Amino acid sequence: MLRNEKHYWPSKTAFILAAIGSAIGLGNIWRFPYICYKFGGGAFLFAYLVSLIIVGIPLLILEFGIGQKIGGSAPLAMGKINKKFSWIGWFAVLCGFLITTYYAAIMSWSANYLIHSFTLAWGNDPSTFFYKDVLGITNMDMLTNGPGIKIFSIGTPKLALVIGLVVMWIWIILSIWKGARTVGKIVFFTVTIPWLILVIMVIGGLTLPGAFEGIRYYLTPDWKALLNPVLWQAAFTQVFFSLTVGFGVMIAYASFLPPKSDIVNNALIIGLSDAATAFIGGFAVFAVLGHYATAQGVSVGEVMSSGPGLAFVTYPAIINNLPLGPIIGVLFFLMLLTLAIDSAFSLVEGFVAGIMETFRLRRLHANLLVAILGLIGGLIFTTSVGLFWLDILDTYVTFLGLFAVGFLQAIVVGWFMKTDKMRVLINEHSFVKLGKWWNYTIKFVVPIVSIILLILSIISRIKATQSFIQAWSDLIGGIIPLILALVIGILLGRMTSKAIEKHQGGKI
Ligand code: PHE
Repeated sequence: MLRNEKHYWPSKTAFILAAIGSAIGLGNIWRFPYICYKFGGGAFLFAYLVSLIIVGIPLLILEFGIGQKIGGSAPLAMGKINKKFSWIGWFAVLCGFLITTYYAAIMSWSANYLIHSFTLAWGNDPSTFFYKDVLGITNMDMLTNGPGIKIFSIGTPKLALVIGLVVMWIWIILSIWKGARTVGKIVFFTVTIPWLILVIMVIGGLTLPGAFEGIRYYLTPDWKALLNPVLWQAAFTQVFFSLTVGFGVMIAYASFLPPKSDIVNNALIIGLSDAATAFIGGFAVFAVLGHYATAQGVSVGEVMSSGPGLAFVTYPAIINNLPLGPIIGVLFFLMLLTLAIDSAFSLVEGFVAGIMETFRLRRLHANLLVAILGLIGGLIFTTSVGLFWLDILDTYVTFLGLFAVGFLQAIVVGWFMKTDKMRVLINEHSFVKLGKWWNYTIKFVVPIVSIILLILSIISRIKATQSFIQAWSDLIGGIIPLILALVIGILLGRMTSKAIEKHQGGKI
């Protein structure tokens, strides 16, 4: 499919907002602040910025370059570099699709909580409410000791979560209805709304008594921590995760850019906005945690958590004690939803674009196909053991997939295509010119960093595997989906290569 004006972003701002919306997600609010605090506060921030500059932004530039200069979704663009590599693009978008299945489930929880906020339905025990009433986990021991064999007794989906999931998928599909044209309009809301709410939360949070105690925890630099390799692992991982690189999203989004776009500038704006949002998000989280901890007479470390626990247990507990609790609850969950939606639909768009180009499907059909598959796949996360499966898929597909694709992409461009050719193409319309350093980054730094992260993540997962049952559930929930994404990716890659061959020089 040759891109023409009909497919382009309605404006430059639309593209920037869409890419920022994709990058900014739950990771900025419930992952970054926690990791930053855990790994030495201000010192982590330094490591994060270094990782962003030496790996994150160069990789973002690479994906924009592949998408815009070579053209097409990840499978097509990789296939145009060399027919042999189409599968890498497919592997990337399939991983992205798998992530959406659980990302949509988390959004369904948030939507439920948005409604619960009106009445503060979680009452005095938000933990029991979340795990038992909302998720349906029968035995709370499972949270501390792991689900064991019970992970296989799946049971029936929870109705409220299923309804939420259906609504989320409708929202996702409507947002990408006509591709970049629709996305370009939606993101004006889905990027600005969470930002406005975030600013309100930061200002409101900082005025609470005890807030600065939290900020102190968040940012006090522990410079010695920079000597700890685990800190660097966490920083690089967070940069990869946060920029939504590695899932074909940025490639597809950049393919809708008009030919004369400034790639370097865009990558800088997007990378830095994402980092700024994570940093500021930390203020919103830690100000409120500081206030809560002070009121309870405990240390901030004791009330801090990340991931679902922070959003669905700690925050509701805090909201109970705040003036205007219900309003803050609604705002908070609205913020989570609007933060997550544009990340979710960007992952879906990357996949849909690939399907349309290879199978010459109409957008409507591709949209519906993906939504139905995603919805069915996501049902597992609405059951009482959904949380545990979600955790496994997240570990394997999100992180291992991410590093694997980062590695493969850099190898393809760095070693099989002349990196300098790509650099010259990118520089053509960029105000800030990329120096030769970029070639080395793509050839050496990105592949080395991503392969090290990949190996370290595998080792830490193996170490954490304590039982046979856990190994089985990891196999079923993590390794098999990853292998399936690979195998299906290879098969689909062949089809894309054929489609490219057939239309070579023609209008793919
Ligand atoms: N980058 C987004 C975030 O920070 C979302 C995302 C992460 C999407 C990882 C896909 C994979 O939450």
